[in-house]
Amino acid sequence: MKELESILAELTQKVKTATDSNELNAIRVEYLGKKGSISLLTAKIGELPQEEKKTFGAALNQVKNQAMELLEEKRKEMEEKALNEKLSQENIDVTLPGTMIPSGAPNILEKIIEEVEEVFMSMGYDVVDGPEIEEDKYNFELLNIPKGHPARDAQDTFYIEDEKILLRSQTSPVQARTMLAAGGNTPIRMICPGKTYRRDADDATHSHQFMQIEGLLVDKDISLSDLKGTFDVIAKRLFGEDVETRFRPSYYQFTEPSVETDISCFVCKGSGCPLCKHTGWITVSGAGMVHPNVLRNCGYDPKVWSGFAFGFGAERLAMLKYGIHDIRTFYQTDLRESSTFDRKDV
Ligand code: DAH
Repeated sequence: MKELESILAELTQKVKTATDSNELNAIRVEYLGKKGSISLLTAKIGELPQEEKKTFGAALNQVKNQAMELLEEKRKEMEEKALNEKLSQENIDVTLPGTMIPSGAPNILEKIIEEVEEVFMSMGYDVVDGPEIEEDKYNFELLNIPKGHPARDAQDTFYIEDEKILLRSQTSPVQARTMLAAGGNTPIRMICPGKTYRRDADDATHSHQFMQIEGLLVDKDISLSDLKGTFDVIAKRLFGEDVETRFRPSYYQFTEPSVETDISCFVCKGSGCPLCKHTGWITVSGAGMVHPNVLRNCGYDPKVWSGFAFGFGAERLAMLKYGIHDIRTFYQTDLRESSTFDRKDV
């Protein structure tokens, strides 16, 4: 019995000072394992005189249970301690400001193009597409600009193969493609936004890659006043209901007569400011009545059909609308720029 008492005292002490679960396991094996001191004592019961067997057996059982309880208690204590330590390390300060995740902004060119598309779609126009790698035939010849014509000089073109295949210098070839595909006997109302390319040196107002929004309407009895009315609607929808419009004579090979389309300056309302270069007016597109040669080249009889066409510079529209001063802004990936536009525009 004495031995039992000292075993229990010893074990209690060891459990008390144990610092981790490995140590605790070692104690369990030392006392309760197959060859542990408590287990060995159990084997000795048989050697005891009959009258002592019962009391010793009961005492041994009690010690065994106590030992198991002590070990279990300590195990729980250790687990709890570890958990508390972990929790205190992972303490979250809910008053700390969160990490700012910058939000994306829609591309400003896409936005202006979508706006223009919406206005024209509401007037029954289709939005069509054309190839950026184009044939000289569509980019120039069908549009009344034959080889060697000085009008080609204004569009210093990137040629890809001989003088036949090029990067389109304007979206106007889509006019020719659309008319040819329509077969010369149906009216057309289309706009085509898209990338264009010219061998221009990049500066604040020039970019070797830029975007145009082409438009074409072909029908019977179409006159310049239809173009004026259409332009008036788009100008007001894009720049405000109080904007006025005017046409100035111009020259394009594929339209006759040709015009530059102006809107009254929406900043100074016509009194003169730096944006309108103190003229009170801002030019936003080239346009005109489709040249009879172009109609004929593309399968439409100019005695029956007439139409108007126009070409907006998409960057120019965006620059005017959002007060951007450098066209290169669109092609340099400075996220600060687009997020600023976004905020202004929400
Ligand atoms: N393609 C012309 C350019 O790039 C713009 C233009 C002018 C398009 C008049 C037209 C138009 O459709 O009628 O300078």
